[in-house]
Amino acid sequence: MQMKIQTPFYLLNVIVVVIFLLVLRAGQFRSANTDDEFFQCLLFKSDNATLISQVVYSPNNISYTSVLQFSINNLRFTSPSTPKPRYIVTPVDEFQIQTVVYCSKKHGLEIRTRSGGHDFEGLSYVSQVPFVILDLINLRSITVDTQTATAWVQAGATLGELYYAIAQKSQNLGFLGGICYALGLGGHVSGGGYGAMMRKYGLAADNVVDAQFINVHGRILDRKSMGEDLFWAIRGGGGSSFGIILSLKIKLVPVPETVTVFTIDRTLEQNLTKIILKWQHVAPKIDKDLNIRVLMFSIVNPSTGNRTIRATFDTLFLGGINRLLPLMQEEFPELGLTREDCTEMSWIESVVVGSGFTNGEPVEVLLNRTALPKNSIKGRSDFATHPISEDGFEGIWEFYNDKIGAGMALLVLTPYGGKMDEIPESAIPFPNRLGTLYMIEYVVAWDGDETSPNISWIRNLYNYTASYVSNSPRTSYLNYNDLDLGVGKTYQEASSTWGANYFKNNFDRLVKVKTMVDAGNFFKREQSIPTRS
Ligand SMILES: Cc1cc2nc3c(=O)[nH]c(=O)nc-3n(C[C@H](O)[C@H](O)[C@H](O)COP(=O)(O)OP(=O)(O)OC[C@H]3O[C@@H](n4cnc5c(N)ncnc54)[C@H](O)[C@@H]3O)c2cc1C
Ligand SMILES: *[C@@H]1O[C@H](CO)[C@@H](O)[C@H](O)[C@H]1NC(C)=O
Ligand SMILES: *[C@@H]1O[C@H](CO)[C@@H](O)[C@H](O)[C@H]1NC(C)=O
Ligand SMILES: *[C@@H]1O[C@H](CO)[C@@H](O)[C@H](O)[C@H]1NC(C)=O
Ligand SMILES: *[C@@H]1O[C@H](CO)[C@@H](O)[C@H](O)[C@H]1NC(C)=O
Ligand SMILES: *[C@@H]1O[C@H](CO)[C@@H](O)[C@H](O)[C@H]1NC(C)=O
Ligand SMILES: *[C@@H]1O[C@H](CO)[C@@H](O)[C@H](O)[C@H]1NC(C)=O
Ligand SMILES: *[C@@H]1O[C@H](CO)[C@@H](O)[C@H](O)[C@H]1NC(C)=O
Repeated sequence: MQMKIQTPFYLLNVIVVVIFLLVLRAGQFRSANTDDEFFQCLLFKSDNATLISQVVYSPNNISYTSVLQFSINNLRFTSPSTPKPRYIVTPVDEFQIQTVVYCSKKHGLEIRTRSGGHDFEGLSYVSQVPFVILDLINLRSITVDTQTATAWVQAGATLGELYYAIAQKSQNLGFLGGICYALGLGGHVSGGGYGAMMRKYGLAADNVVDAQFINVHGRILDRKSMGEDLFWAIRGGGGSSFGIILSLKIKLVPVPETVTVFTIDRTLEQNLTKIILKWQHVAPKIDKDLNIRVLMFSIVNPSTGNRTIRATFDTLFLGGINRLLPLMQEEFPELGLTREDCTEMSWIESVVVGSGFTNGEPVEVLLNRTALPKNSIKGRSDFATHPISEDGFEGIWEFYNDKIGAGMALLVLTPYGGKMDEIPESAIPFPNRLGTLYMIEYVVAWDGDETSPNISWIRNLYNYTASYVSNSPRTSYLNYNDLDLGVGKTYQEASSTWGANYFKNNFDRLVKVKTMVDAGNFFKREQSIPTRS
């Protein structure tokens, strides 16, 4: 009797120990070999092993760190404690991307696709699980066709390279991407993409007519073979939940030979609050050719020695001064625009000025990805559907004039209306259309790479503005992605938090598409579209 009990018990112990040792050894082999297996897989599966080995970087390669950091634009994610990729691959053709997809799946690595690297939360190059960065920096070809007013652009090209390429071929065509010229096409356009011509022509994503896309099975699809659902999803739903965008065919838009640019500064002592109250009514309703955005920050007023808010009314008008002046006199005399404030120039010159360079800088500066300084940032966004009251603004000024806000914090108001009102909410996943007056962007920046208490400042500010902006749901811009909105991964968690914030009623269709094209949820991360059976 005793033997019968003891024997199995003894055996059980042995088995447990043996299994434990096996698991331990397997674990050791795993951590030592998985990476190498991935590399071997790339060599083995590629059509040209020599070629692919020249674009694979592991931490052992001397240029790993410089390749990693080149496209990190938020220094918050450069600290030693930020998780680093096992590999970075910078493919030179689509076959290499297919190989990376195959080998990542096979060897348990997640993929982070990076185009321009401007992700607010660093999601194109940071992950908490073992991962490989697919960096599209070598895929930047641009083919402009002025006959059809379209262009095929690879995802790794920057907006600056695109604007430049268009202007080389035509003085009458442009594209309506973002104001920051160094953004990557892949991330920017798949997340929406607005710029100074949004009120006239909509978002960049509204003007995509075809795409080349690699799915979870490594298949290359175009609009026809991917179908209208997936094509809908990657124009504003973010590419990263669905696969890899290889290139986009975009519609170019007409631009006049002469545009007019002005920037006017006003402080609180110069009746800024009154001017802003009026701006809220004017800017979203005025002529579509006119885009008056407002950038605000705290300064010390030289004439009083006290802190104040200064707003820059940063404007692009698609026309000449002679048409602009009477329009402003009629609709927005409070701003006091004079002829001397205005400069006529070509559209491409306005892009250079809009990017923060001085007028007269050669347009080639748009090709230099490292011309502007970087720092650590946290950004958030809102959409105003009603004018904010005077009290509301005064509370916002208090935040910007306090100790942290007075450091490096920016508030940007971007007017909607015009074409944006004419496009239905469900046309693409980006839902903020008719009824939106303007978008609000809050940014706080700091020196150094660690997270800083400046982040709580922006959280408190966001809390304060809650009662003044869109609600049920409060909406946010995907391209200003914000992990504070929640990182819940299930359908239930996501649909009541970040899913509703970014996409409103379009979220469910995105979930349907995701379930259809990536049922195994290989392309997953913080705030990626969940699957649902
Ligand atoms: C300084 C600055 C200025 C900005 N100005 C504007 C502006 O004027 N207008 C505007 O609309 N937005 C603006 N943005 C936001 C910008 O549009 C987003 O950050 C956008 O996602 C950047 O794209 P990217 O390719 O540079 O970034 P990345 O970090 O490379 O990518 C962003 C996201 O898209 C995914 N992704 C990238 N490429 C692909 C691909 N080929 N296939 C699938 N998924 C991909 C990434 O994995 C990541 O999730 C600005 C951001 C910054 C930092
Ligand atoms: C592989 O690529 C290398 C480097 O570009 C090239 O020199 C070689 O000819 C290629 N080999 C084949 C078989 O295509
Ligand atoms: C990185 O190192 C590996 C192993 O030495 C080598 O095969 C590969 O070519 C290197 N990558 C680059 C881009 O030089
Ligand atoms: C501010 O508004 C007041 C009253 O409307 C006006 O008298 C004053 O001139 C304005 N100040 C400036 C700097 O425009
Ligand atoms: C500057 O601020 C101080 C303290 O708030 C205030 O007393 C003073 O009147 C202000 N000065 C001017 C010129 O507004
Ligand atoms: C790009 O800009 C940076 C910063 O101004 C400068 O140092 C660098 O030389 C420029 N690169 C090119 C190729 O012009
Ligand atoms: C906030 O950022 C400013 C500007 O970099 C910096 O001087 C300040 O120390 C930061 N504040 C905190 C609390 O980190
Ligand atoms: C925001 O406000 C709510 C209620 O007013 C409060 O419960 C919450 O803690 C606040 N959050 C922050 C970050 O201050």
